[in-house]
Amino acid sequence: MKRLPTILLAALLVAPLALAGCAGDKDAPAGTDTEQGEDGDEEADDADDVAAGDAAHGAEVYAGTCSSCHGPDAMGIEGLGKNLHANAFVADRSDTEMLAFVKTGRPASDPLNTTGVDMPPKGGNPALSDQDLMDVIAHVRTLK
Ligand code: HEC
Repeated sequence: MKRLPTILLAALLVAPLALAGCAGDKDAPAGTDTEQGEDGDEEADDADDVAAGDAAHGAEVYAGTCSSCHGPDAMGIEGLGKNLHANAFVADRSDTEMLAFVKTGRPASDPLNTTGVDMPPKGGNPALSDQDLMDVIAHVRTLK
């Protein structure tokens, strides 16, 4: 009488292992999918390098570096910087693209420049880290 339950027990123990094996097999392609997703998804790439932006810290970065041209309220200053509220350029770009833009700026010589005024790299503050810039981007995204 003791044999049968032991076999049943063994079957019960083996079954989850077999299922785990199957799940493991399923995980492999899923993992591959995730990698493909990261390659294609720029927001996922951000997570590898810098954490998601902290808008509260970004507001401080903005006040210290960006406000001199874009205005303390980010409504823009004629001849210095553009209005960043409900900004289509910002809305159309991923965080990665925004990071690349803010790091590079947009000189007046750039054909894409719209005002004939320089946007300097990092707003002219080379001390800003990528994380600072991600934070300021998160702040700019809160401007409606
Ligand atoms: C020295 C002045 C100056 C500073 C400082 C500055 N900007 Fe700019 N920024 C500009 C100008 C001028 C433009 C517009 C360039 C053009 O004519 O296309 C611009 C454009 C932009 C744009 C694109 C807007 C659009 O509609 O094309 C973004 C986003 C932006 N700035 C973000 C920032 C952030 C974030 C900071 C702070 C880290 C910053 N800027 C600091 C002058 C400045």
